[in-house]
Parts: sequence; C-alpha cells; structure tokens
Amino acid sequence: MPHSYVGLKLNSPAVLAPMSGVSTLPFRLLCKELGAGLTYTEFASAIAIARNLENKASNNKVFDRVSTVKEEHPCGVQLFAPTEKDLGMAIEYVEKDFDLVDINFGCPSPKITGGGCGAYLLKNPDKLIELIKTAVSISTKPITCKLRMGWDKPVLHEFVSRIEKVGVQGMAIHGRTAIQGYSGNADWEYIKKIRGMVGIPVIGNGDVHSAHEVNERINNDYCDLVMVGRSAWNNPGIFSEIMGKPLRSKEELLKRYFSLCKKHPVTDLSDVKAQVSGLFSGMVGAKKVRVEMMQAKDFETVQLTAMEAVSNV
Ligand SMILES: Cc1cc2nc3c(=O)[nH]c(=O)nc-3n(C[C@H](O)[C@H](O)[C@H](O)COP(=O)(O)O)c2cc1C
Repeated sequence: MPHSYVGLKLNSPAVLAPMSGVSTLPFRLLCKELGAGLTYTEFASAIAIARNLENKASNNKVFDRVSTVKEEHPCGVQLFAPTEKDLGMAIEYVEKDFDLVDINFGCPSPKITGGGCGAYLLKNPDKLIELIKTAVSISTKPITCKLRMGWDKPVLHEFVSRIEKVGVQGMAIHGRTAIQGYSGNADWEYIKKIRGMVGIPVIGNGDVHSAHEVNERINNDYCDLVMVGRSAWNNPGIFSEIMGKPLRSKEELLKRYFSLCKKHPVTDLSDVKAQVSGLFSGMVGAKKVRVEMMQAKDFETVQLTAMEAVSNV
C-alpha cells in the first residue's frame, strides 16, 4: 500500500529515526536499501551552520551531517536552534538538498537543552511557535517537527493546534516526556490523542521493535507512519521485514555498510564504531568485538575486526 508524508510518496510506513552518531549517510542509505520509507539526518546545530557558512572547513562535521545524495530521497534534514535568526540562516543553506526540514523539539540532553534548544522549548510554547513561524516563512520545503509529550508532564495537547496553525505540515511524536529520558514505556495512547486533535499526519515513535508492531500501530489508528530508532540501529533488517523482503545476514549487512562508508566517508570514526556495535547487538561474542573495535585507530582496522568476527559466528 502506498504511503505519503507532507506530499512525498513513501514506499513504506516505517521511517528511520534521526539518531545522532548513528544516522550517518552510509547507515541511512543502508536503511533505505532495506526498505525505510523516509530517513532523516542526525540533528545539526543551526548556530554551527549559520556561523560557519563563510568557512565551512572550520566545522566539517556539521556540514557533513547535512549532506545527502540522490539515492537517499525522500529524506529530511533535522536542525535544532534557539533563535529565529540562526534557524532561518541554516534553513536557507540546508533546504535545497532535502525534501523536508524538521525542527527538533525533543532532545532531552543537557548539552542541547542548556542552550535553549530541543525539548527545552516544550517549556516555552510561545518561543517554539515563533521558531516554527520563521521556519515556515523562510523555507520553500515543508517544515515538520519532532516533539516529546512535554518537559516533565504531557502538555503538547495544550498547544498542538497552534503548531498546526502556523504551518507545520507533519509531526513526529516520541511518547515520553523529556525528563523520562528513555525510562518507562512510550505512551501510545497520548500519541493517538494528539493525532485525533490535528489534521496533519503524525508519525508515532517509541519502543517499536518489530514489523508486527509497526502494522499494529497503523492499523489501529495510533498514527500515520511509525518511526523506528534503537531497533533499527541494532537491526536495520527490520525495514526489510516490514516490506516483506528477504532478510540479509549480518555479514551481508556489514559488508554493504562498509562499502557505503567507502563511497561516502564518515568524518568521525567513533560514529562507524557505534554503528557497527549496534549491528553486532545480540550476537555471540559481541562484547569481545566491541572491545577490539574500540582500540582500532582507523576505518580499515574496524572493518577487518568486524568482518573477521562476523564470519566466525
Ligand atoms: C543514539 C541516539 C541518538 C539520537 N539522536 C537524535 C537526534 O539527533 N534527533 C532526534 O530527534 N532524536 C534523536 N534520538 C531519539 C530518536 O530519534 C527516537 O526518538 C528515540 O530513540 C525513541 O525511539 P525508539 O524507541 O524507536 O528508539 C536519538 C536516539 C538515540 C538512541
């Protein structure tokens, strides 16, 4: 069955979550090949983009985060920002290559909330709305956002209509508050409640582990699409499962991942290590591989260690 989001045609209702240090371009492309309907970049600081536009080499990492290739489409870029000015400048730079621009209002990390970004803005809906208004007025691409339910209690229902009114075309909701972090369970009844309050599509997110759960959420009207984070990190094959495609072995997945890394090099070796660690999740000997890999100083050693280990399983 065809699916859509903000005017984009999607092959699958399952969306890869933005994950900092994980959703690098090679991993996103792997998930796309396996069947992800939509992918997002890791979040990127609008300030870092806006303030380094004249000298991009001074912050390669942030500009890498907001790059894509034609094979990835449809795909979104995610930004976080504390001010309208930085957000506007960053959008003008990033939007041309992506199908949508997503604003992060969900990250609970003190590094982000301390700068007045991410989930911190759930405490200040007026400011959140102003940021969205600016984004909508500047962008030629659809603006979407990713939210948690609130800071310390669910409050999104109090201002979600305002978010819709200022022109957001779709939203992803992680069914937890910021202070919950990852504790407890995602509250899917709350996601359903929000979906019933708006006319724009809602992507539900939190604790989805299988193709069966993706279908169950959609068939029971919890949301329009389902976003998968940690389960895809550990098992990107979940996207094939959802599409009813044949599953590839871990060895094949790793081989393909490394080949995509060679074509689209990842700036930070620790991101490659994090990615490969995820792929080893649940496998015999995973701990030993992780320890060996952590000591590796270059990409080739990580690749050799991982491929040797996977072929011995
Ligand atoms: C390692 C990691 C990095 C993340 N980075 C981001 C990010 O850059 N932007 C964002 O909106 N959410 C980020 N998240 C949150 C996920 O997108 C998702 O909302 C969360 O993991 C819940 O979904 P799950 O239960 O399927 O993992 C991150 C999560 C993890 C585990």
